[in-house]
Amino acid sequence: MPNVVVLGTQWGDEGKGKVVDLLSPAFDVVARYQGGHNAGHTVFVRGRKIVLHLIPSGVLHPRKLCVIGNGVVFSPRAFWEEAEALRELGIAVKPSNVVISANAHLILPYHLLLDRASEERLGEKKIGTTCRGIGPAYEDKAGRRGIRVADLLDPDGLREKIEDNLREKNPELERCGLPPLDSRAVFEEFARYGERLRPHIADASRLLHDRMRRGQSVLFESAQGVLLDLDHGTYPFVTSSNPTAGGAATGLGIAPRWISAVLGVTKVYTTRVGSGPFPTEIKDARAAILLERGKEYGATTGRPRRCGWFDAVAVSYACRLNGIDRLAFTKPDVLDGLDEIPVCVGYAYKGTSVRDFPVETRVLERVAPRYKIFPGWKSPLAGVTDYARFPQRFKDYLRALEDLVEARACIVSTGVERRQTALRDAKLRRVADPQKIRSGLRSRG
Ligand code: GDP
Ligand code: IMO
Ligand code: MG
Repeated sequence: MPNVVVLGTQWGDEGKGKVVDLLSPAFDVVARYQGGHNAGHTVFVRGRKIVLHLIPSGVLHPRKLCVIGNGVVFSPRAFWEEAEALRELGIAVKPSNVVISANAHLILPYHLLLDRASEERLGEKKIGTTCRGIGPAYEDKAGRRGIRVADLLDPDGLREKIEDNLREKNPELERCGLPPLDSRAVFEEFARYGERLRPHIADASRLLHDRMRRGQSVLFESAQGVLLDLDHGTYPFVTSSNPTAGGAATGLGIAPRWISAVLGVTKVYTTRVGSGPFPTEIKDARAAILLERGKEYGATTGRPRRCGWFDAVAVSYACRLNGIDRLAFTKPDVLDGLDEIPVCVGYAYKGTSVRDFPVETRVLERVAPRYKIFPGWKSPLAGVTDYARFPQRFKDYLRALEDLVEARACIVSTGVERRQTALRDAKLRRVADPQKIRSGLRSRG
């Protein structure tokens, strides 16, 4: 079985959680390689909504090993909250099914406070972060003063690192008008986390390598979307890590040659949470239709998502960056009944046509999208699971998107539930038949 990266090709919230959940039965291991609890991956199991933030979506499946890689910024507080919520649903989070890389960097209380303070300071120019401390934690990692998961297991070293960091952070907090943190209280809280986390902590790189050598297969799960990538996204309106496929190698400590394929998850329209350029953003009343029908509210912060039409320039860019030739399209049912569906097929900039996604944000902010209008379909797509039963107009729309981005649809999701999915490939139907998923809530102790 190949090892596959599943990533979002837009600005996030494409439906990665649903796709990872659907494919998990076909893999032995599900590994998260970047981001943190800024992510919100929604999975519906038998009508019940579960939102995963830090723990890979594979956790809902019995006998799957979930790995949180070194590329993730790890909040022990968020981890235990999520583990507790899962436990209440009957899903165990145990050392045997959730492993945390010893090299993952920790999110400490001052990261959250500084994230919020930085957003307030930026005012109108704010990034619109999730205020989960993600940026400040990655800043400390790059600044070589970060504290890692392994440090939790060495109390003397941990105390010293927290004291050293707070010597720098407390004056920063005070400059922001915030009270300083007590290093002893922070140390005691994190030393306790260390004791609880000890059996979960491992050399994740070694573990993955050994499993793949033995023939086990790994699904690499991204958080965010590639247009939020620190290097290749719409900087500075990005997150602070690399959701692009290359991030799976550095974020898990595996050789790139182990990655056999990259599957992109793409909404048939576009959304974005937070600030930053968004060429196809809808400025008229139709935005409200997508917002309400698509329930486009942030899974982590509850903020309404900005809504726009499908942007083929942006998704082509995502496909090129990540070597994607297979896509999972989601949420076409949200467009059911629209008379016309615009698709952005190119941009114009200062009177000339632009075919490549501009790398300069100030250019992207000024492009004018060029649209092709597709006729809407009249029979509802919601819940259709057989590709042959899609209305012709939707098939034409999908074919146009495939041609524009030069990648083929292998999965079409038509609703929130696992079974509301059309699998186009016979091979996929064999390995990921939603009707045969046995896992669920309270299915194990
Ligand atoms: P992720 O962050 O990429 O995992 O995506 P989110 O969970 O943040 O947002 C996707 C939302 O769309 C979730 O509420 C899903 O339940 C929902 N969703 C996924 N696929 C479909 C679909 O095909 N149709 C509809 N209507 N909703 C979907
Ligand atoms: P999933 O995994 C959508 C956005 C924030 C903000 C920017 C930086 O559910 O797709 P951060 O807190 O990461 O420093 O915020 O990135 N953002 C997301 N937008 N879905 C996400 O995750 C996001 N994670 C971060 O809104 O614009
Ligand atoms: Mg999300």
